Amino acid sequence: MEFETLVRSRRMRRSFNDVPVDRRVIEQCVDLARLSPSAGKSQGWNLVVLEGSQTEKFWSCTLPVERRSTFAWPGLLRAPVIAIALADPTAYVERYSEADKAHTGLGNGPDAWSVKYWTVDASFAVMTLLYALDDAGLGALFFAIFNGEQQLRESLGIPAHLEIIGAIATGVPDGSDAPGRSAARPSRVVSDFIHWGTW
Ligand SMILES: Cc1cc2nc3c(=O)[nH]c(=O)nc-3n(C[C@H](O)[C@H](O)[C@H](O)COP(=O)(O)O)c2cc1C
Repeated sequence: MEFETLVRSRRMRRSFNDVPVDRRVIEQCVDLARLSPSAGKSQGWNLVVLEGSQTEKFWSCTLPVERRSTFAWPGLLRAPVIAIALADPTAYVERYSEADKAHTGLGNGPDAWSVKYWTVDASFAVMTLLYALDDAGLGALFFAIFNGEQQLRESLGIPAHLEIIGAIATGVPDGSDAPGRSAARPSRVVSDFIHWGTW
């Protein structure tokens, strides 16, 4: 798809059919996401990808069965793929300890970083992934994990030093997507974002 068309048409999708997604499609999309900008080319992000019935491991931790009947997006639970995006601070501390970066002092530990580049990099990569999934004819939602993070870590063996950035649900949209709760908010226009020359 042409880039402008892709950017203008992408919307978060929250209702899927349960048709499986070919693993190769996910791999092709991650192959594009891995080309996202990365501070010091540290590339410290990872995905835990759950497919098919494995997604229940995600939902059982984050949305217990008793809360599902009132869940606003029932079609989200059908998503055939859930990917959990992770950022690794240690990859950045190690990279910035190397000879060409040591002068920054950022190799001293995560607390030395005023901007957490592992969060920035993982976010850039997730954004590329969302566009790649869209371009591949899939729908996707990036969403927060508000509940059960510790339980999810234990269930999936996610090491404590990795930060969970959020989850990406993907699959074939079933066309019954209701607009998200924030969709009616006005969109800011270009002049709202830019402060030419000074604040
Ligand atoms: C950091 C971040 C967190 C988000 N968390 C959620 C979420 O928990 N649940 C949800 O339904 N959408 C979530 N969204 C999606 C936003 O609501 C959505 O991107 C926004 O309303 C604009 O809609 P659009 O992306 O479809 O254009 C999140 C988006 C971002 C960037």
